[in-house]
Amino acid sequence: MSRRRAKKVAVLPGDGIGPEVVGSALAVLDAAGAEFEKVPVDIGLGRWKRTGFALAEEDLEIIKQCDCVLLGAVTTPPDPNYRSVLLRLRRELDLYANIRPFSSSKLDFIIVRENTEGLYSGQEEVGLEESRTVRVVTRRGSERIAEKACDIAAKRRKLTVIHKSNVLRSDRLFLKTCQDVANKRGVLCEDMLVDAAAYNLVVNPQRFDVMVTTNLFGDILSDEAAGVLGSLGLCASANVGETFALFEPIHGSAPDIAGKGIANPVGAIRSAAMMMEWLGEATLARRIETAVSWALETGKKTPDLGGSCGTKDVAEAITGYLRKI
Ligand code: IPM
Ligand code: MG
Repeated sequence: MSRRRAKKVAVLPGDGIGPEVVGSALAVLDAAGAEFEKVPVDIGLGRWKRTGFALAEEDLEIIKQCDCVLLGAVTTPPDPNYRSVLLRLRRELDLYANIRPFSSSKLDFIIVRENTEGLYSGQEEVGLEESRTVRVVTRRGSERIAEKACDIAAKRRKLTVIHKSNVLRSDRLFLKTCQDVANKRGVLCEDMLVDAAAYNLVVNPQRFDVMVTTNLFGDILSDEAAGVLGSLGLCASANVGETFALFEPIHGSAPDIAGKGIANPVGAIRSAAMMMEWLGEATLARRIETAVSWALETGKKTPDLGGSCGTKDVAEAITGYLRKI
């Protein structure tokens, strides 16, 4: 009889509020009965100050030997030559799909953001009088993000392709490729210009279901969506590739509130639930989601949501609930 190998999760708390919210997420996973081996990896500004590296080659090797990553947040060091840890991880691990669900008692939609190309190509010419960034859209990159979005949309209502093809010719390839994939898959598909999408997200967010878009548009629209939902602190994300994935709350390291014990842990806890689902533990993931919804509905809220709970109060309410159900 073969015994299932315990899953290995690289845990990267990072900087600022990262360690606080990751601590909460780990406590919740424990209370939910999740079993996995934790592999802590020290990355980010703190590490950079001590060693000159925010993410060393050895760290990357350790991370690659795990099944996936749970990340808190990273502060960008004040160094013009610094390469973002997050962008490096997405690129080096080829985590091409950034999946960001936005759900509450009133809203339920998902932004699927292309995560490796677009204006994040890294192809730049920087001058004193003129600078350029190359926006890369490939058929393969568009196809694989469209397939991922269709995997999700096929089980839901519809897909909306968000683009700016009236100005950016590179987006014509993105739009056409997404439409072709959706047609092939039999997924109901509409499209919308990004400026109109930004407007509609505020005035009528219920009209959206699954949105697929290029890298920078997805970055901007997902922060907007978090605002519509009520707080960046509520939102989770999965950065997914073919065989590897990284889970992180979509908020940053929030140095202004770091160490105060008031950061909202929900984004990190929901990211941990997405991780369990990806690891094949869908029931466990749903239990965590239910516990989070219960906590929010019963007013266990941090100050970003107008509440007066601390990070630990929210995490303890959720772990307490999980131990009971
Ligand atoms: C995000 C962040 C990152 C991005 C930054 C930190 C590089 O804003 O995950 O949305 O632009 O993708
Ligand atoms: Mg962002």
